[in-house]
Amino acid sequence: MTHPASKTDINYAAAQLKAGELVAFPTETVYGLGADASNAEAVQKIYAAKGRPSNHPLIVHIADAVQLANWARDIPPAAHVLAKTFWPGPLTLVLKRHPEVPDAVTGGQDTVAIRVPSHPVAQALLREFGGGVAAPSANRFGRVSATTAAHVREEFGDTVACVLDGGAADVGIESTIVDCSRATPSLLRPGWITPQQLEAALGAPLAAPDADAPRVSGTLEKHYSPQTPVMLMEGDLIIELAHSLTRQGKRVAVLARTALQPLIEKIVWRAAPADAAGYAHELYANLRELDQAGCDAILVEQPPEDADWLAIRDRLNRAAAGSGETSPD
Ligand code: TXA
Ligand code: MG
Repeated sequence: MTHPASKTDINYAAAQLKAGELVAFPTETVYGLGADASNAEAVQKIYAAKGRPSNHPLIVHIADAVQLANWARDIPPAAHVLAKTFWPGPLTLVLKRHPEVPDAVTGGQDTVAIRVPSHPVAQALLREFGGGVAAPSANRFGRVSATTAAHVREEFGDTVACVLDGGAADVGIESTIVDCSRATPSLLRPGWITPQQLEAALGAPLAAPDADAPRVSGTLEKHYSPQTPVMLMEGDLIIELAHSLTRQGKRVAVLARTALQPLIEKIVWRAAPADAAGYAHELYANLRELDQAGCDAILVEQPPEDADWLAIRDRLNRAAAGSGETSPD
């Protein structure tokens, strides 16, 4: 399909969803691989296409908070506050599920994850379709999320016929996930909306994460990974290691925010933006590009410790976890 998705493309995609087919679509975080959330058979196609175990729950995307009651029950006031403050936007709420939500969506849990995306193409698709769209990130299981329509095609080829193009995803990393199914809201996955922003909206602290929290598959230690081993380190170590590896005849890729001196020849280099928003926006495209360079290692400069970089640190740590071993996915 042509960029950007036209009204005809959106009508066609909504009809595909109604017919139980998969549709990949842009959101402001990353691209999603969607199916009609009320159709268990359609939802199964997502797991098959991703190669994802079917006990991993999916996020239901809806056009606005008015539809919440179709998917969740016993919605606490805190969830309404967060929805009012951050929707449409990069926030997912985990709530007690409505009895009619298929097990295929929730992985059989008593909770359901819900999000109202702000991307205009996602909004147009959800409004035209009318129901909820279950959608994980549009990448094969355990791999780097897709932030452009071209990335989605790289991941799925012809297995996903309908890919709506909405340009490069604005935020670039997956939504913040907050559990609101228990007494005090808690953070399940960091994202662009920070714990500080959530606490400011709630006027109360988040609960500390604990063992009883609902499962989040993105918390598998290794996740969001390129095929090439990823190593996180400070800039001066990057220079040292890159020298030593290139001397051994190895090919090295580097992702750095600062201009590392002296510049080393023969390395594949990506300069990442120095601000957190810019860095997040380009992160997955950078990792994809460096992964495709056929190097022996991707050396990534350690991100700053500031609160703004929390979600980026989370994704980089996961990309680097277990590097060099075979992916458990
Ligand atoms: O930004 C995003 O959230 C993107 C876009 C497409 O919306 N979606 C996304 O989906 O990242 P996915 O499937 O890659 O990650 C969703 C996460 C998983 O870690 C899953 O375990 C968690 O949400 N999740 C879904 N339902 C849940 C539930 N009921 N309880 C706890 N975690 C849940
Ligand atoms: Mg994902």
